[in-house]
Amino acid sequence: MRIVLLGPPGAGKGTQAALLARRDGLAHVATGDLFRAHLDRGTELGKQVKSYMDRGALVPDGVTTRMVLERFEEPGAQDGFVLDGFPRTIPQAEALDAALADAGQAIDRALLIEVEREELGRRLAGRWICRGCQTLYHERSAPPAKAGICDACGGELYQRGDDKPEVVSVRLETYEKETGPLAGYYERQGKLARIDGGGAVEAVAKQITSSIGGRVAVAAADVTVE
Ligand code: AP5
Repeated sequence: MRIVLLGPPGAGKGTQAALLARRDGLAHVATGDLFRAHLDRGTELGKQVKSYMDRGALVPDGVTTRMVLERFEEPGAQDGFVLDGFPRTIPQAEALDAALADAGQAIDRALLIEVEREELGRRLAGRWICRGCQTLYHERSAPPAKAGICDACGGELYQRGDDKPEVVSVRLETYEKETGPLAGYYERQGKLARIDGGGAVEAVAKQITSSIGGRVAVAAADVTVE
């Protein structure tokens, strides 16, 4: 299965991608996470992308696409993947389709997670992330057992610099302008499914499951969709 997750900042792409990847043994390829790992390690790529990320702009297509295609060469992605945050522009989507076609492959499904703007703001303002294992928390909807500490690995939780309200506004505008057209791109290919992302994590996961078929594990409980 090769899945693309689309949706605005805070829609729950990372949350749902992690569930899908765990359920189906898919590689979870998140461009934001890959860039942040480069920033943390202080690599040349990290230095190159920092100013774009800090202000909520998109990193140039060439840099981003190259990084994703290199990730595909690593173990794990050959048998299927869920893309979280990529593609984000028409040129990225075309480059992805061309690279997959060269390998005799194609995207199976593009899932657009839709959430109202006010809720997006609430989700981003309350998001905490583990520095160690990247597990996502929310102070209201998914709090850790102990404030500031990851339940999964004991790592330190932090808030992203680009989740400040002024940067979130730019990210949302960038999404509308640059990424919005991708819905039409995948619709024309007959691959788009719209997901109402406004409900609880489990409810969103159920819709995703029914749109691709199968079973998804949510926290300790399994949710089955007929
Ligand atoms: P990236 O890291 O991809 O950020 P994003 O797309 O803006 O998305 P987010 O990670 O903010 O949100 P999400 O939809 O994953 O939501 P999450 O599951 O975390 O990109 C960052 C930057 O990198 C970009 O601005 C750009 O500069 C660069 N970049 C990345 N990809 C690029 C590309 N392809 N091209 C160019 N540049 C690129 O959930 C949010 C919160 O809500 C969490 O706290 C979670 O616990 C909570 N939550 C989730 N679901 C629910 C729910 N159903 N109910 C209640 N709470 C929920």
